[in-house]
Amino acid sequence: MPSHFNSLSAADLPDHEAGGDPTTAELLAARPQLRLDALCGLMLERVPLAGIADALGTPVWVTGAGILRARLRRLQAAFDEAGQAVAIHYAVKANDHLAILRVLSQAGAGADVVSGGELQRALLAGIDPERIVFSGVGKTDDELRLALSRSIAQINVESREELERLSSLAAAAGARARIVLRVNPDVDAGTHAKITTGRADDKFGIGREEAAALYAEAAALDGIEPVGFAVHIGSQIGEPAPFRTAFARIATLVRQVREAGRAVSVVDCGGGLGVRYRDEPEGSPRALAHAIRDTLGGLGLRLVIEPGRWLVAPAGVLLSRVVRVKRSGEDRPPFVVLDAAMNDLLRPSLYEAWHGVVPLGAASAARPAQAAHLVGPVCETGDTLARDRRLPALREGDRVAILDTGAYGAVMSSTYNARPLAAHAMVDGDRWGCIRERQPVERLWAHETVPDWIAGAGTPR
Ligand code: LLP
Repeated sequence: MPSHFNSLSAADLPDHEAGGDPTTAELLAARPQLRLDALCGLMLERVPLAGIADALGTPVWVTGAGILRARLRRLQAAFDEAGQAVAIHYAVKANDHLAILRVLSQAGAGADVVSGGELQRALLAGIDPERIVFSGVGKTDDELRLALSRSIAQINVESREELERLSSLAAAAGARARIVLRVNPDVDAGTHAKITTGRADDKFGIGREEAAALYAEAAALDGIEPVGFAVHIGSQIGEPAPFRTAFARIATLVRQVREAGRAVSVVDCGGGLGVRYRDEPEGSPRALAHAIRDTLGGLGLRLVIEPGRWLVAPAGVLLSRVVRVKRSGEDRPPFVVLDAAMNDLLRPSLYEAWHGVVPLGAASAARPAQAAHLVGPVCETGDTLARDRRLPALREGDRVAILDTGAYGAVMSSTYNARPLAAHAMVDGDRWGCIRERQPVERLWAHETVPDWIAGAGTPR
């Protein structure tokens, strides 16, 4: 069995009490893409992360291209083994960096986009328009026109109102829009309330009862070619049961529409496959492939999936440095203040999300564990990465990797507190390069102006 440690063995790392958070050794054992080397410290693929932090400073995102390819292969293999053909359209929103889009498209993925900006990114990365689908509940006229002009594979329509608007835009442009109707299947995905999307009260999709009638109406509209249905019930889903329920409902709808004499050739099964951040069940590509095959497989459909998180979350880490260790009394855990904050990684503040944290240095990783609160420097109590986390005792200047931040990390960053966007590096085997420079602070105000009548003489700018 390959060891995750070079000359460091799991026995060199401290144990934490049973039932608590996973230990450093457990976090690493579950992540073969990471390795703690006795000399080089923590490595992603075959690159020491300390070298990247030295060169680019912190905070810095790091994404592993080899991991992205391996995960896409694993997902594809699960469908191949199940004997179920599927088109994988990477959900660009999870991480829209051009280099990531390029790696995934070279490895065979298409794209699922949700804005004109994401569509332009996908095209710029060289993704064939025929391999791009466009989802989203509030597409503007400009965005729909862009999609029509680039003849993308399909537009996932979310409402009657959008359908009518698209029809008039397509007719005006002399275009024909291939559309699928996104159906709200009224299924609770059992995930965090802020990322569940398929309950009847959620803003997404067309009600199950209306979908068949609207599909028939769509066929009669100018510039519209209805080809099928889409469903997406939420994100970070670990169990296959909600997928099965949702897909079975779509299969029923497909049969019903076909019985009424209409052709249905596509079902887009959405994204949602979860990952293991702490100890939750990891979404299983095999179970997803079987759920799709067993419910929709026999219907002669072209099937699409839109995975985001599962492909990219484990491929990324966020490196950060300890700015200060602030003690607050003998009986309270210290506040370990990092140079990464909620403006960089919003997930813990927004969803109470749990991310593993591992020191970059082998010596720091081997220190005895103690409880600490990991916080950022932003002026909000919500800027807390981890409360009461047992970690090797951290000291000022230590650097850590915040794990599984490849999805919904960099893309959700802001410049709150006038904090520039962090740098981003990509590793690939034993190579690495900077793929986004740290935003120069001046760029934060580069597009701001102070009106003449306010500026007055002598005021800068
Ligand atoms: N397709 C549609 C229509 C979606 O809305 C989403 C995600 C996906 C596919 C990809 O889902 P995934 O495979 O990544 O679960 N910011 C949140 C997650 C928001 C997900 C939004 N929609 C988080 O950090 O947990």
